[in-house]
Amino acid sequence: MQEHTESGPVPPEDSLDLLQAAAAARARAYAPYSRFFVGAAIRGESGTIYAAANVENAAYPVGTCAEAGAIAAMIAGGDRRIVEILVCGPGPALVTPCGACRQRIREFASARTPIHAAGPDGITASFTLGELLPMAFGPDNLEPGTPQNEATVR
Ligand code: THU
Repeated sequence: MQEHTESGPVPPEDSLDLLQAAAAARARAYAPYSRFFVGAAIRGESGTIYAAANVENAAYPVGTCAEAGAIAAMIAGGDRRIVEILVCGPGPALVTPCGACRQRIREFASARTPIHAAGPDGITASFTLGELLPMAFGPDNLEPGTPQNEATVR
């Protein structure tokens, strides 16, 4: 079985630092249309945490999810792999990444990568990417290996 189809439980590390970063970003979210404020935080392979919030737009489809912003920050910051990601909504209802963001996360994560759903007061549930996006299409479908370290300006 390929790595990405594995979806066994991965014990989350102490993710309090991710929660704090995501909650802080969420407090600065720009969501005047939905009033649904979201923050996301990624722990990169270097250990650096990248956080972002959703940014809506008067032209509704142009708005971006918190996860997309956090991934952009990670790439600009020099990391290429997501070790762990946390999404912070208003709580207590479960907020997991939307379908498009699951695919965005897939680009830089494995099936075993933890995805935490949280509210400002704590983590509600934890999943693996394999559980949220089974049988996913990813970089390995286009070329063998890990192109994440290749596709960069030299
Ligand atoms: N949103 C996120 O930023 N991340 C999620 O995981 C779920 C949804 C945003 C998009 C939009 O700005 C608002 O929440 C309502 O859908």
